[in-house]
Amino acid sequence: MALQTTNPTTTQAWQKLQKHFETMQNASMKTMFKENNSRATQFHLQWNEFLVDYSKNIINQETMNLLLELADELQLKDAIVKYFEGDSINQTEDRAVLHTALRALATSNIIVEGENVVPEIYEVKNKIESFTNEVVNGVRKGFTGKAFTDIVNIGIGGSDLGPVMAVEALQYYKNHLNVHFVSNVDGDHVNEIIKKLNPETTLFVIVSKTFTTQETLTNSETIRTWFLQSAKQDDVAKHFVAVSTNIKNVTEFGINENNVFPMWDWVGGRFSLWSAVGLSISLAVGFDNFDKLLKGANEMDEHFKTANFDKNIPVILALLSVWYNNFFGAESEALIPYTQYLQKLAPYLQQGTMESNGKSVGRDGNPVKYQTGTIIWGEPGTNSQHAFFQLIHQGTKLIPTDFIGFVKPLYGNEDHHDKLMSNFFAQTEALLNGKTEAQVQAEFDKQGVSPERAAFLLPFKVFTGNKPTNTLLIQKLTPETLGSLVALYEHKIFVQGVIWNIFSFDQWGVELGKQLATSILSEINSEKINDHDSSTTSLLSHYIKNK
Ligand code: F6P
Repeated sequence: MALQTTNPTTTQAWQKLQKHFETMQNASMKTMFKENNSRATQFHLQWNEFLVDYSKNIINQETMNLLLELADELQLKDAIVKYFEGDSINQTEDRAVLHTALRALATSNIIVEGENVVPEIYEVKNKIESFTNEVVNGVRKGFTGKAFTDIVNIGIGGSDLGPVMAVEALQYYKNHLNVHFVSNVDGDHVNEIIKKLNPETTLFVIVSKTFTTQETLTNSETIRTWFLQSAKQDDVAKHFVAVSTNIKNVTEFGINENNVFPMWDWVGGRFSLWSAVGLSISLAVGFDNFDKLLKGANEMDEHFKTANFDKNIPVILALLSVWYNNFFGAESEALIPYTQYLQKLAPYLQQGTMESNGKSVGRDGNPVKYQTGTIIWGEPGTNSQHAFFQLIHQGTKLIPTDFIGFVKPLYGNEDHHDKLMSNFFAQTEALLNGKTEAQVQAEFDKQGVSPERAAFLLPFKVFTGNKPTNTLLIQKLTPETLGSLVALYEHKIFVQGVIWNIFSFDQWGVELGKQLATSILSEINSEKINDHDSSTTSLLSHYIKNK
């Protein structure tokens, strides 16, 4: 069954939130903390190895009650059941949305078109496991009998970003294999990677759900041509494997059918790292760690499915985001992990969030008259503090920010970690409290700054504070906690799509550019420019003349 369709702005909870916003828009978090000693415990959640503190938000209990009322009025509970049970909630593509099934327990029963899909999922998982073990242990060899040393993942979008993010995040758990990623159709990208490779010892994993994506096919052909300079056609079968739903195109490319890892159309590309799309993750860190990643995600799925909404981490984070997006008019959210390992988390979630919820037509087919998808961006702390934090602290825009930190470092370097984490805590405190005129003046007095200079400098040194943050404090970065963290954000995306009454699991918006690029490519090849606007025509003719 489909998700129900309601314009959220017509609900009673929305109207109440609108009114409530009038009293909250100028509320001071600092005052609310002063007036309520138990605010931190009131607005915090503890689950497994996660502590989520959301008390540094411009909210009070009434805000939370109304947001939860909104979720109820929009039948979020029913939507979650449909999502997990494999109802065809991706209506514009007529599909179920079941990336959660990929990490379900073997005993689960998840029916798609009358069939339990779990045995099939486990069959592919077993294939990933044995393939991983053969490559990691050097049993599977290249065309000259040497074990593989390098893996190249060729894919783009969801067939690249998830594996790149997870391999980077789990670097500490990595084995001896060097893992590379080729995504951009920019030939310089693939050539820079090729430079580092020996064809005798490199395994290529072509990942494309459709196996029609221009970037991936072009890169795969370039790599195959380079490979065939040293090897024979028959050797392709030993060095190329594919992950795809399109077995026909894969075998036509020359890949042996035994070397194809299937996936299913009910797995969206941007949510596919849990499927065989994650083969390069499994190769990089071993199957056991890959399985732990899935286990962590499954635990978050269970939490999301079963916890009451007022104790439900993805639901709370999604509702807070709706509060800022739709009532405060915040346009973007920052995501700041205090670990270098998560440097690819923001780019990964950019696809997850913005490809999913960057929609302007409601599930009823009408244009929406309210804001939907937030812009996500971020970089690890403390680097980001020295880059763009100035704007978050003293700029004109409201940027709700998630801080993600870990209690334990992986290498046990206490000195570094305490310094890192003191920054982590200091930033959310500074964003909350800011710095008053009196505090600035007291500093000037201490430093002996002249009254004229102090009067001039004062406005620049004041921080208004009252900038909202969520703090996710996790015990340690492990495959399990990474799995839970990623699943948390996946569910946040889902909840927001339900609230905004949009279809989160299609991506028609990326099609137009692809179509135009195909016709422009034939114009470049034939040097005959068709009818375009004058800007595009003059740019194209400059390119053709000067290339
Ligand atoms: O960018 C559009 C998109 O369809 C993504 O959703 C997808 O992750 C990516 O292209 C790659 O698609 P494929 O796996 O079919 O090559």
